[in-house]
Amino acid sequence: MLNEKVAALCNEQINKEFYSAYLYLDIANYYADQGLDGFANWYTIQAQEERDHAILFLQYLQNNGERVTLEAIAKPDKEFNCHRCALEVGYEHEQYVTSLINTIYEAAHEAKDFRTMQFLDWFVKEQGEEEKNADDMLKKYDLYGSDPKGLYSLNSELAARVYTAPSLTL
Ligand SMILES: [Fe+2]
Repeated sequence: MLNEKVAALCNEQINKEFYSAYLYLDIANYYADQGLDGFANWYTIQAQEERDHAILFLQYLQNNGERVTLEAIAKPDKEFNCHRCALEVGYEHEQYVTSLINTIYEAAHEAKDFRTMQFLDWFVKEQGEEEKNADDMLKKYDLYGSDPKGLYSLNSELAARVYTAPSLTL
C-alpha cells in the first residue's frame, strides 16, 4: 500500500490527465473548425498522450493494491478565439500540469515513498518535453504564422505528427 496522501494525489492525477485530453480535443476541434487540419492533428495526438498518462497513473495505483476511484471529467472551459490563443492555452496548461506532478513528487518525497518517486521521474522528464513542445509551437507560430504561406507550411508540418506509445511501461 502507498502513503495515503500520495495515493490520493495519484488518483486525482488520473482525472487531471483525462481533463488534459479533453482540453486538447477541444483545441483540436477549434483548429478543425478553422480549417487547420494539421494543428488539429497535432492536438488530437496530444490528447491521446494525455489519455496514456491517465492510464499509467491508474495502472500504477492498481499495481500497488489501491482501489481507483474515477470522478467526472470537467468540461473544457478555456477560452481561445485566435490561432495563437489556443497555443498559449496549451503552454499554460502544461506549466500547470508540471506543478501538479511536482506536488505529487513533493508528497512522495516527504513520505519517503521512493517507489512513487521513481515512477514519477518519467513524468518529470515528460513535462520538460511537453513544456518545450508547447513553447516551440508558439515560437514557430510567431515566426511563420502571420504569413499565409508560412501558416500553410506549418500546418503541413503538424499534419505529419504521428502517435507513439509512451516509453514508460508498467
Ligand atoms: Fe500529461
